[in-house]
Amino acid sequence: MTTISRLRIGIAGLGRLGRRHAENLARRVPRAELLAACSPVEAELAWAKQDLGVATLYGDYHDLLADARVDAVFLVTPTSLHAEQIVQALQAGKHVFCEKPLSLDLADCRRVEELAAAHPRLKVMIGYGRRFDPSYRDAYDKVRAGMIGKPFLVRSQNLDMNDPSGFFVRFAPTSGGIFLDCTVHDIDLARWLLGDPEPVRVFATGVIALHEGLREFGDVDNGVATCEFADGQMACFYASRTMAHGHETSTEIFGTHGRLTVGQNPRLNRVDIADAHGVRNECTPTFYERFEEAFLREATHFVDAVLDDRAPLLTLHDATEATRIALALRESLQTRRVIEL
Ligand SMILES: NC(=O)c1ccc[n+]([C@@H]2O[C@H](COP(=O)([O-])OP(=O)(O)OC[C@H]3O[C@@H](n4cnc5c(N)ncnc54)[C@H](O)[C@@H]3O)[C@@H](O)[C@H]2O)c1
Repeated sequence: MTTISRLRIGIAGLGRLGRRHAENLARRVPRAELLAACSPVEAELAWAKQDLGVATLYGDYHDLLADARVDAVFLVTPTSLHAEQIVQALQAGKHVFCEKPLSLDLADCRRVEELAAAHPRLKVMIGYGRRFDPSYRDAYDKVRAGMIGKPFLVRSQNLDMNDPSGFFVRFAPTSGGIFLDCTVHDIDLARWLLGDPEPVRVFATGVIALHEGLREFGDVDNGVATCEFADGQMACFYASRTMAHGHETSTEIFGTHGRLTVGQNPRLNRVDIADAHGVRNECTPTFYERFEEAFLREATHFVDAVLDDRAPLLTLHDATEATRIALALRESLQTRRVIEL
């Protein structure tokens, strides 16, 4: 147990998601203090100062790490930077929360795992936040309690609303492509819900339905995949960047005595509209509206795990496995072959 009552955090990355984490850490996570923020972008630092009252601002990540008052870093930076920034943080004696995925490179994942094992006092957690969503947590508890018998299939999808401005194309050079950026969440869910089975082979395919600019990165805007596990369990995944209705994450878990479904209707709220067009509801526009509660619970879990010296729910090995399977899906997509793991 540490003796400090609040964890002093420095956040790196204040973009699309970093701002949300920063707001939670500054205002909503009970035992956190957002002490410092780091970004190479002046306007992002000005926002942290004016809107959140963060007093200590750094343009360079190394300066953040050199700040002895900082107990932990929150990394919400481009995926291509994660592994090296985690390594540097551990070497500087900081606890680390880092957004998913851990890395786009398996050797880097293993290097981080090894270094973390050599620093057992420091906590490291990767942000597979679906596990902290109350509905996914409830489904997990029901599976573990035996409500659907032995689970044998997870069918899970992560669908984003189409962005005509081509954001996904600009994001493609650092995101790793649709399977490493989106399907990693479903892969992590499948492993978690099925009880951490060993993957044996995968097959993936995909199409470019709208965004031709993805072609030069070997990426697609709609991808489908299957994964077979060692003891006969299976997973099917679908990821899309071209939906008309909004963001939809939904998952079915089939067992020998029943099925659980999470998020089948991606409703924004409990209002149903009945009019001349029929009966319908509005949809969550982005992942954040759907998982706002999960992001808050995830950050609270990490802060509590550090302050109470408990192992976080998610291990680095879980994050390595998600990258390993997602890399195999990308290889299958690009080679059109079954990939053995
Ligand atoms: N868990 C989820 O559901 C989820 C959702 C979206 C994004 N993400 C992950 O979050 C990460 C960030 O995604 P985003 O959409 O916010 O990206 P973004 O491009 O909007 O933001 C990246 C931020 O990193 C900053 N940055 C760049 N280089 C830096 C450096 N060397 N040091 C410090 N800051 C630096 C940028 O200024 C920017 O503020 C990605 O790894 C992504 O996979 C996770």
